[in-house]
Amino acid sequence: MAKEKESSFKRSDGRKLNEMRPMIAKVGIIPNADGSAMFTFGNTIAIAAVYGPRKLHPQHMQNPQKAVLRCNYDLLSFSVSDRKKPGPSRRSQEISKVTEWALSPALDLNSFPNTVVDVQIYILQADAGTRTAGINAASLALAHAGIPMRDLICSVAVGKLDKNLVVDLTKEEEDFEEGEGATDFAMAKIANSDEFTLMQLDGKIQPEVINEVTKLATEACKQIYEVQKKALKDVVESNGGKK
Ligand code: CDP
Repeated sequence: MAKEKESSFKRSDGRKLNEMRPMIAKVGIIPNADGSAMFTFGNTIAIAAVYGPRKLHPQHMQNPQKAVLRCNYDLLSFSVSDRKKPGPSRRSQEISKVTEWALSPALDLNSFPNTVVDVQIYILQADAGTRTAGINAASLALAHAGIPMRDLICSVAVGKLDKNLVVDLTKEEEDFEEGEGATDFAMAKIANSDEFTLMQLDGKIQPEVINEVTKLATEACKQIYEVQKKALKDVVESNGGKK
């Protein structure tokens, strides 16, 4: 019975439960940055620019063992329908922090002591999934900047709408209120590895469905990885290997 109910569930935009929104990735969009990229999930558009490694000031913030990764996420005022007050907020500080944590395990920063790698992430248009789109863009921008990495980081949100697990929620889906309502589970993982670097749950989820959630995220991340890889190949081919 439960299975029948699951399969009859219709998403508001007609997607299958495990279907992601169309993705676009482009690398090398900001010439003055050391690395840059854009990543979109449907109507959510994120861009990321990497500056560094460069000497970190003030000196007391330096780490003599490795570079410091400093991420700054900003949802721009006109990216949402109700104009957002410009400037930092608790939400943007939290997302900047979790973005650093999601990206760090893939990076090898040991070759750059006393320096900082700055990652600026701007959300130009938001329809949910902005932290995950931002992480995908940032991962590409770091690779483009030539920062040594174990692999790319891929990120997606898995959600639960009433009792149905779905991938890559829109804002309309995040606001779903029927039955048990909506749960949003932002995840990131190292591509070609089972290592998750972000699991951020907003709402409630039963422990017995976590395996299914990670399976859906893993499948989605494979698709994200292919889009990211193609974007990196395209920039190398179009510039003859140069940035
Ligand atoms: O964007 P993400 O799903 O990572 O984070 P969220 O905090 O769950 O925000 C969900 C969505 O709410 C955003 O993507 C925006 O579409 C919307 N939002 C908004 O309209 N105004 C804000 N000040 C913050 C978020």
